[in-house]
Amino acid sequence: MIERFSVSMSRDLLDKFDAFIKRRGYVSRSEAIRMLIRDALIEDTISTDPGSEVFGTITMIYDHEVKGITEKITHVQHAYHGEIRSAVHVHVDRRNCLEVVIFHGKAKKMRKLVDELSGIKGVKNVKFVFTLVEP
Ligand code: NI
Repeated sequence: MIERFSVSMSRDLLDKFDAFIKRRGYVSRSEAIRMLIRDALIEDTISTDPGSEVFGTITMIYDHEVKGITEKITHVQHAYHGEIRSAVHVHVDRRNCLEVVIFHGKAKKMRKLVDELSGIKGVKNVKFVFTLVEP
């Protein structure tokens, strides 16, 4: 069932919102508001319920010439064999590697994996995105 409600805001804020909708290509204000609400609810669930089941990606850049780094990364990933669904590796240049890990499991476990990967010497940057199938 679809409910309707009205929203009050300043003209200035609404103009900025309309420009945002245009840039993003949303078909209507309603669609944009639904997307933003879903995003906020997903973020809230993940941050307040560490046991929530998330899907996520972890993207990392590292220097493969740092001694032992490849073994350490593989070792950490094997400890999460139940959660890591896939990993893609790209050789960026002579030294740097890009790796994207796809994860499915508890939010707190994914945070721990992110921390463990970030803590390895030679890992230069780690970014992650968590999401839920249903907010
Ligand atoms: Ni590589």
